[in-house]
Amino acid sequence: MLSHVIDVLADPIDGSPLSGVDQFSRLVSESGHSYDVARQGYVTLAAGKGLRYSGDDSDMIAARETFLSRGHFAPFVEAISHTVADVLDDAEVPEGAEPVIVEIGAGTGYYLSHVLDSIEGARGVGIDVSTPAAKLLSKCHPRVGAVVADAWARLPIQDSSVDAITVVFAPRNASEFARVLKPQGEVVVMTPNVGHLSELREPLGIIDVEKGKIDRMIAQASGHLVPVGEPETVEFVMNLDQASIATQIGMSPSARHIHPDILAERIATLPSSMAVTARATVTRFTKA
Ligand SMILES: C[S@@+](CC[C@H](N)C(=O)[O-])C[C@H]1O[C@@H](n2cnc3c(N)ncnc32)[C@H](O)[C@@H]1O
Repeated sequence: MLSHVIDVLADPIDGSPLSGVDQFSRLVSESGHSYDVARQGYVTLAAGKGLRYSGDDSDMIAARETFLSRGHFAPFVEAISHTVADVLDDAEVPEGAEPVIVEIGAGTGYYLSHVLDSIEGARGVGIDVSTPAAKLLSKCHPRVGAVVADAWARLPIQDSSVDAITVVFAPRNASEFARVLKPQGEVVVMTPNVGHLSELREPLGIIDVEKGKIDRMIAQASGHLVPVGEPETVEFVMNLDQASIATQIGMSPSARHIHPDILAERIATLPSSMAVTARATVTRFTKA
């Protein structure tokens, strides 16, 4: 619910604090701007002409929800939850402090809800530019506030208010992350690595992860964020049937590049069940 995180939200126009009025049916800033809370519980916080992107559409979000609910990415969610717990331990966040975790491009809230389950009292802000995602995000956990916002714009978050930011296969805005992090706060980024879904690339005609992606990400963040320790790679093998493969591709950018009929034909040529590698890297960053 937005009321749990209202103290960290900010007016996207001028950064002033927001408060809930009319039983949290609107958020109003100190400078007088008003933002309606949708009946599903999320709020759109965008300045000026609004959002430039619409993010993942409802089919992609539904595919993501189905795939993740089958537990195929469980080792990824474990890795994110453990890493956020380590970040809070290293920052010596005291018990009962109700730390704030912001997830950028939070999708269905799969990762954020698991993180909040694993950290007592933690509160979460799930940010995504997709309205279908925000509808699920707002229901994913009682201590999550769901916000539709563009990760490339000024984040609707107060300066120095966030204990940890998580980004899983989603956009990274290093300068904004540095602005909203507390002094001991960190960003936890999960990026796909070379070898991810490798067994599906050729038969389905999907593009591979580029080499050097992690080094490029670190270089792009420089001046704002610096890595903490060495990036850690999480790799495991999933046993996927054709339906799960269809949802995995349906939730990825490939869904936009391959015609659904062609994709269905290619998937039908695969074995009824096959071993597919999942491979991603977790990198921690602190303020430069
Ligand atoms: C690959 S999905 C990952 C979702 C989620 N982190 C997960 O792994 O289940 C990328 C997400 O980022 C969102 N997204 C893309 N561009 C964005 C932007 N500029 N601002 C905020 N969210 C964005 C998409 O709508 C989508 O939900």
